[in-house]
Amino acid sequence: MLVNLRDICSIAEQNNMAIAAINVASFESVRAALDVAEQTGHPIIIQHAQGHQHLAPLKDIGPTMIALAERSSALVCVHLDHCEDLSYAVRALDMGFTGVMFDGSALPYETNVERSCRMASLCRDYQAGLECEIGSMGSREAGEKDEGGTVEESGAVYTNPDQAAEFVKVTGLDILACSFGTVHGIYKGEPHLNFDVLSDIRALAKVPLVMHGGSGVSDEDYARAIDAGIRKINYYTYGAKYAGEAVCALADRRRSAKPGAVVYWHDMTRTAYDTLRDTFEHVVTVFANGASPMA
Ligand code: 13P
Repeated sequence: MLVNLRDICSIAEQNNMAIAAINVASFESVRAALDVAEQTGHPIIIQHAQGHQHLAPLKDIGPTMIALAERSSALVCVHLDHCEDLSYAVRALDMGFTGVMFDGSALPYETNVERSCRMASLCRDYQAGLECEIGSMGSREAGEKDEGGTVEESGAVYTNPDQAAEFVKVTGLDILACSFGTVHGIYKGEPHLNFDVLSDIRALAKVPLVMHGGSGVSDEDYARAIDAGIRKINYYTYGAKYAGEAVCALADRRRSAKPGAVVYWHDMTRTAYDTLRDTFEHVVTVFANGASPMA
C-alpha cells in the first residue's frame, strides 16, 4: 500500500524506530525491499536518487516502484532522493511519488532556504512529504564512484543545531537530513558518529531526523542514532557491494568447478536478489528493534 512520507515517519516516531530507506537502482532491489517489508511486517521507503538516473532512469523505475508499492501488503513510501531541481521533482510527483528530498546542502544557506521553500510549496500541491538537508554530507549518491571515505575527506560539514531549528521553521519541511559523521559510499575505517551534535539537533529542530550514508554503520551505532531521534536511514552502498561480491563468488565457484563454464545473467540477478533480501532483512529488523547480535 502506497503511503505518504509524513505518515510513515509518524509511525517511526510512535514506535521509537527508524524506517529503512532503500535506494533502488535495479528491479532486483525493488523486489528485495518490498519482499522484506511484507515478510517482516515493517514499513519501508523505496527511493530513487536523481544521481542514479544513468543506472535506472526515472521514467522506467518510477512507475515500477509505484505499481509494486500500490499492490504490496506492506506500508510503502515511494520517495525521490537527492533531488536538485524542481522539474525533476514534478516528474516524480506526477507519477505518484509520496515524498521528495530536496538537496540544497551544497548551496549557500539563503539559497538553500529559498529553493527548499519552493519545493515545500510544490510538495503541498501534491500532498507529498518533504525532506531537506542542512549541513553537508560532502559527496552525493552517484552510484559508481568510490565516494565516501572519512568525514574530512568527503568535505562534509556537521549540521549546526541552531541553524537547523531556524531552517525547519522557515521551510516547513517534514523531516530533516543532517550531517553528524556519516558519509555516502564506502567508509575508510570505522565511522565516528557525533551523537552530541545529533541530540542537540533533535532537541532544537523537533522533527524526525534522517541519516544519510546509513550503510556500513554498526548495529550499535544505528541503535544509538535511533535513540537520539533518527527516524529514516538511507541505505544503498553496502547492499550493492555485498550483492556484487556474491555475484563474483558465484562466477568463481562455477568456473573453478568447470573451467569455461557459462555463468548466466539470470543466475547473477537471482544471486543479487537473494543477497539484497538478506541484507535488507537484517537492517529493517535492526532499525525496528535496535541492535541485534547478528554479524
Ligand atoms: P550509503 O552510501 O551509505 O548507502 O548512503 C545512501 C544514502 O544516503 C542515499 O541518500
